[in-house]
Amino acid sequence: MANRMVSSVQSLGNSDSITYISQREAAEIDEALMGPLGFSVDQLMESAGLSVASAIAEVYKSSDYSHVLVICGPGNNGGDGLVAARHLCHFGYKPSICYPKRTPKPLYSGLLIQVESLAVPLLSVEDLPVDLSNEFDILVDAMFGFSFHGTPRPPFDDLIQRLASLQNGDQTPQTSPFIVSIDIPSGWHVDEGDINGAGIKPDILVSLTAPKLCAEKFCGPHHFLGVRFIPPSILDKYKLRLPAYPGTSTCVRIGKAPKIDISALKNNFTAPEILEDYQVEPNPFDQFQNWFDEAVAAGLKLPNAVALSTAGKHGKPSSRMVLLKEVDKDGFVWCTNYESRKAHDLSENPCASLLFYWDALNRQVRVEGFVQKVSEEESEQYFHSRLRGSQIGAIVSKQSTIIPGRHVLHQEYKELEAKFSDGSLIPKPKDWGGYRLKPEFFEFWQGQQSRLHDRLCYSSGEADGKTTWKIVRLAP
Ligand SMILES: Cc1cc2nc3c(=O)[nH]c(=O)nc-3n(C[C@H](O)[C@H](O)[C@H](O)COP(=O)(O)O)c2cc1C
Repeated sequence: MANRMVSSVQSLGNSDSITYISQREAAEIDEALMGPLGFSVDQLMESAGLSVASAIAEVYKSSDYSHVLVICGPGNNGGDGLVAARHLCHFGYKPSICYPKRTPKPLYSGLLIQVESLAVPLLSVEDLPVDLSNEFDILVDAMFGFSFHGTPRPPFDDLIQRLASLQNGDQTPQTSPFIVSIDIPSGWHVDEGDINGAGIKPDILVSLTAPKLCAEKFCGPHHFLGVRFIPPSILDKYKLRLPAYPGTSTCVRIGKAPKIDISALKNNFTAPEILEDYQVEPNPFDQFQNWFDEAVAAGLKLPNAVALSTAGKHGKPSSRMVLLKEVDKDGFVWCTNYESRKAHDLSENPCASLLFYWDALNRQVRVEGFVQKVSEEESEQYFHSRLRGSQIGAIVSKQSTIIPGRHVLHQEYKELEAKFSDGSLIPKPKDWGGYRLKPEFFEFWQGQQSRLHDRLCYSSGEADGKTTWKIVRLAP
């Protein structure tokens, strides 16, 4: 009977699996915990808030991302947020709280006294900056949890909208704060997820007790499970399969390092791994994807930043950084201006080299090959996936040409901003688009002790009309 209600099981790692529960099951488990099993709301809240703060600390270091805004809703999810803010403060972050609809119950007023005693600022909705990106590195969405039904009311409808509109589709380094949702991304349907696709897309989702069905649709880079006290009777009754918590942790990562949409990339965190021949993939694209996933999971600021080296017909090399938009079996894609210096080099000499450097993992990957423009249609797609400001910026910048001063850029930007203020489609300039490098050589470099680094190279060949890859090891 109980196991019929368990709605979904998804693979976790190699052999384990994990259970996703429905809204109804979550409510039943909550009732059981709070009734016969002797727990109280404040205990659950304390554990939830600590799990959330721990997950944040695991991914975003307080030295790099200290300013956190916790947006609290009127119910238990808001209480979890208040507890998380208190722990974040003790972990060295600088949290602020926006708690517009306060709950007049002793539990909540106690939590408010606790954060006030730590001098955590309490901001009204009106106090919030127009652009949340200006003041905050991390936004904690503690508005609505699993028991929420219906449509969010003011001011939460607007707050959800503001969080949903924050995205980093830009070429420049991280511009929007990271979003952390507690148990359910607010506004999502608890069982069905982000139904119209316009909701909050958190970077971290911290599922509490057991992940809810909507969490299966979570595509962000970090999914954690928190609240570590489910007794065996509940596990048995609901046939819950949940991951073991490592050591004394209050939260555990669900699933392995994610496959992510590089073009929508923001950020993340891990540890270096030793490279041995038998550990690498026979196909360098698979090997690259493994390392890239690990760079994402390691919390590197821009794992998709890559140095691109070109040389024109005279063979004089030049390098610059670009952001990788995509990688697949056809190659590595980035976007730029087709009249720039790199574009001129490539028109004269299509050979190029890409170099990724992932400092925290002590790794670099070199990729060499031939470059072609991507189709106009593909470029159109990349262009329109960018923020509108970046689209206008791309029109304004006649990249790599001499200009008399910054004012020229500002002037044209303002004019175009006004022209497109009605939200109409911004046409892609014809000299903006993507390039794809089709590799014929890869080198994977892993730093090791005493400078005895690993260097594994893949060179492409052909057999029976198919591409083959030969792997050799080079001395460091
Ligand atoms: C981290 C980082 C990412 C960048 N990404 C891009 C990019 O994706 N496309 C681009 O045209 N320029 C990008 N730039 C700017 C380029 O490095 C460079 O200044 C510009 O493309 C002009 O290069 P060129 O004159 O050699 O053609 C980036 C710069 C940095 C530091």
